Amino acid sequence: MIWYLLTVLLIIPLYLLSLFCLSPKDKKDLLEEIKWELKYLWLGFQAVIDDLFKIWKNKTDLPRRKGDVVVMTGGLRGIGLEVIRMLLECDMIVVVGCRDIEKGEHFANKMRMEGTTLGKLDFKTLDVSSMESVRNFAAAVKKDYPKIHVLINNAAVMYVPYAITSEGYETQFATNYLGHFLLTHLLLKQLDATGTEDAPARVVHISSVAHELGGINFDDINFEKEYYIAYKAYSQSKLAQLLFGLYLNEILKERKSNVRSYVVHPGIVNTELFNNTIVKKTSPFILGLWFKPPDKGAVPIVFCAISPQAKHLDGCYVSNCLKKETPVTKNSKDLQQKLFNFSTDLLKIEEFGKS
Ligand SMILES: NC(=O)c1ccc[n+]([C@@H]2O[C@H](COP(=O)([O-])OP(=O)(O)OC[C@H]3O[C@@H](n4cnc5c(N)ncnc54)[C@H](OP(=O)(O)O)[C@@H]3O)[C@@H](O)[C@H]2O)c1
Repeated sequence: MIWYLLTVLLIIPLYLLSLFCLSPKDKKDLLEEIKWELKYLWLGFQAVIDDLFKIWKNKTDLPRRKGDVVVMTGGLRGIGLEVIRMLLECDMIVVVGCRDIEKGEHFANKMRMEGTTLGKLDFKTLDVSSMESVRNFAAAVKKDYPKIHVLINNAAVMYVPYAITSEGYETQFATNYLGHFLLTHLLLKQLDATGTEDAPARVVHISSVAHELGGINFDDINFEKEYYIAYKAYSQSKLAQLLFGLYLNEILKERKSNVRSYVVHPGIVNTELFNNTIVKKTSPFILGLWFKPPDKGAVPIVFCAISPQAKHLDGCYVSNCLKKETPVTKNSKDLQQKLFNFSTDLLKIEEFGKS
């Protein structure tokens, strides 16, 4: 913890020093970045403490679900890899959407050699930042799996340099939110046909505590006019996932659908997601010491995906397997609807879930 504080104290003078060499506009932008850096460090610190206190609640059962199908985005490293391992232990068929199928096959062999013998793994190509790739992936999944019991929207990038995808979206918005919004729309019919009143199919959105710092920049969603701060764009994308996850559950209940929606913060977890952060660059050992290991980060995701004990947590924001309230979960109905309509307009979706 002392090292964490020392890192923060080291960063501030470094930033202040660089201020002397900049133009007024650059100074303003840099100060804004420092503000975000500090906000993230403080939020991260609080979230690490929260994980430490609640870790004893972070548990899941692993019910046998032989032959049931889970579709997940990302998963060849980090938390997703551990989610796959647990779902295979439940004897499920795990369909992984990933950018590198060969790497997937390599991991599948490794997992088998390490003793995971149950379940089935199927890798299909997906770049979730590309709406075209999402459409192709959904079509391939639907062709092979008429029944889908769970969809886990896991893949993400964090604090990446500014880039616009070939379809015109800022990378973090496209990868973390919009691609998953489209995928959910495209697979909802299958999920609905698979779920039952007693055992609804589930959609699990992996959001983050970072949503607490975000806002939705409707007038400039891709940061084309405003100075791009990677932290701000990540928060926006994670807030968007949360708002969508909450709103989706309301729509599903209204439609009397046999699908329910869950939103999870996995904890502050030691993965490559932090590769672009100052903490990891300056003091990587902090992550190993204080952050959750990936298998513990996988627990609340698996809990929401398959545990009967999580049934009542649909439409909630879940952290350490407990319902967690934040200002957004308490009061965001209008924002949820605004974002939903904004997203269907962007993607030209006429009726959500009817594809
Ligand atoms: N780690 C944390 O402390 C933390 C905290 C809160 C929330 N989360 C959330 O938890 C989820 C998992 O994060 P993690 O920590 O496991 O991150 P990670 O180790 O960096 O893994 C990210 C995964 O997403 C995949 N991915 C990234 N861009 C993709 C794309 N365009 N198309 C397809 N797959 C893509 C990566 O695949 P490649 O191997 O192809 O890059 C990788 O499998 C994310 O949604 C993250 O926001 C994490």
